[in-house]
Amino acid sequence: MTVQGSVAVQVLAARLSPGFTLGVASAAFQIEGSLSAGGRGPSGWDAFAEKPGSILDGHSPAVACDHYNRAPEDVELMRALGIDSYRFSISWPRIQPDGTGPFNAAGLDFYDRLIDQLLEAGISPMATLYHWDTPLPLEHRGGWMNRSTAERFAEYSAAAGRRFGDRVAQWVTLNEPVSVTLNGYALGVHAPGHDLLFKALPSVHHQLLGHGLAVQALRAAGVKGGIGVANLHSPVRPASRKISDRLLAKVFDLMMNRVYADPILLGHYPKPPLIARPWFRSLGKASDSDLRNIHQPLDFYGLNYYCPVKVATGPGPDHSPVGTTEAMARLPFHTADFPEYGTTGFGWPVAPEHLGILLRELKDRYGAALPPLYITESGASFPEPDHVSGPIADTNRIDYLASHLGHALAATSPGGIAEDVELLGYYVWTLLDNFEWAAGFSQRFGLVHVDFDTLERTPKDSYYWYQALARARRA
Ligand code: BGC
Repeated sequence: MTVQGSVAVQVLAARLSPGFTLGVASAAFQIEGSLSAGGRGPSGWDAFAEKPGSILDGHSPAVACDHYNRAPEDVELMRALGIDSYRFSISWPRIQPDGTGPFNAAGLDFYDRLIDQLLEAGISPMATLYHWDTPLPLEHRGGWMNRSTAERFAEYSAAAGRRFGDRVAQWVTLNEPVSVTLNGYALGVHAPGHDLLFKALPSVHHQLLGHGLAVQALRAAGVKGGIGVANLHSPVRPASRKISDRLLAKVFDLMMNRVYADPILLGHYPKPPLIARPWFRSLGKASDSDLRNIHQPLDFYGLNYYCPVKVATGPGPDHSPVGTTEAMARLPFHTADFPEYGTTGFGWPVAPEHLGILLRELKDRYGAALPPLYITESGASFPEPDHVSGPIADTNRIDYLASHLGHALAATSPGGIAEDVELLGYYVWTLLDNFEWAAGFSQRFGLVHVDFDTLERTPKDSYYWYQALARARRA
């Protein structure tokens, strides 16, 4: 199914069921700036970004989109966009600067105002509690390698639940624990910059425990909204039929997908292939009581999808924006190209049909244990100018979004390959071009262009396309 241009808007709109949520997603550290304003404490990402060589071209997150000072303008952009829901993240160090102990009134007030502005604009708030900005004092004590971070996270979640629980419609505990473990603790390309490879696996268990304890803390705080988690998933394919490629693809699938979703949805870690058991040993030792804590009933499952991954035997060139690191070169595999697909600015394959395939895989794996699902992130970066004088014609992004949403809807409609998956909504990553982690400002994902010198916001054609979609379904 090709879904492009104005016809596509009508086609897509007609496929949206009446309660389907259209949204946009963001993360505090990528947009807020004001890192030491209003009593915010430093996070592991503040410290990482200051280390020479960690961020492409030495870009600094200190101002980012200045959203901390411009939230009303940004909410106005969303109101005009016509979306139903905004997924944002609460910065833990902004509301609890040390990650333990006292809370920061100015930080709590900032999110209070944001939530109220959203509600006034008719936009339902989806709040993520952790999108990678661990308070620095906790990172100094080992961060997610330290079990007590899970308990601190539950305390912070309880406080957020008590303060905002009357108005937040959906809670997301963690964003992509896989990215934190792989990029942050295993490969060292994200904060906190450790390259522990398989020794990073305790950070999986502690994040999942943090998730489970936070779910219970939110429920105990009496929050009104639904509770879920946002996991990144990529269908994993072997580069060839060779046994080693197939085996390593299985291992990669465990690391990428299953060690996060299985305990949350099924209450146990997956069994690794025999030869890979030593790598996963630490997870095998999880106690039953931890697994019970992790395996909490959820109101929804958040799926972040960007692209499939192909795995080939042996070290080799990787598609990381920061190139192949020393740690990657020590792995027994690397990710390979999909020559049949075009690529995004990051070099990621544009493979919308894999979103439908992924939904099928998730249902096959988890069956009735898979809660109704939101696509909590979907989007793409493309090379775009730093300065613009009007809307840019980002047809590549429109095609990307239309085809991904189109495939997700087709797959989950009657007769589709994942018709038994209940799809509740779709959140575009992201509203504003922003600080793209280790890639700095080099990758623009926004529906709205941001000039990082003047901070001027200029909606792109994709913004108007999404607006037309939101309007068309009401027509
Ligand atoms: C993350 C975002 C990030 C996006 C694009 C997702 O994995 O949640 O924070 O900007 O990918 O890299």
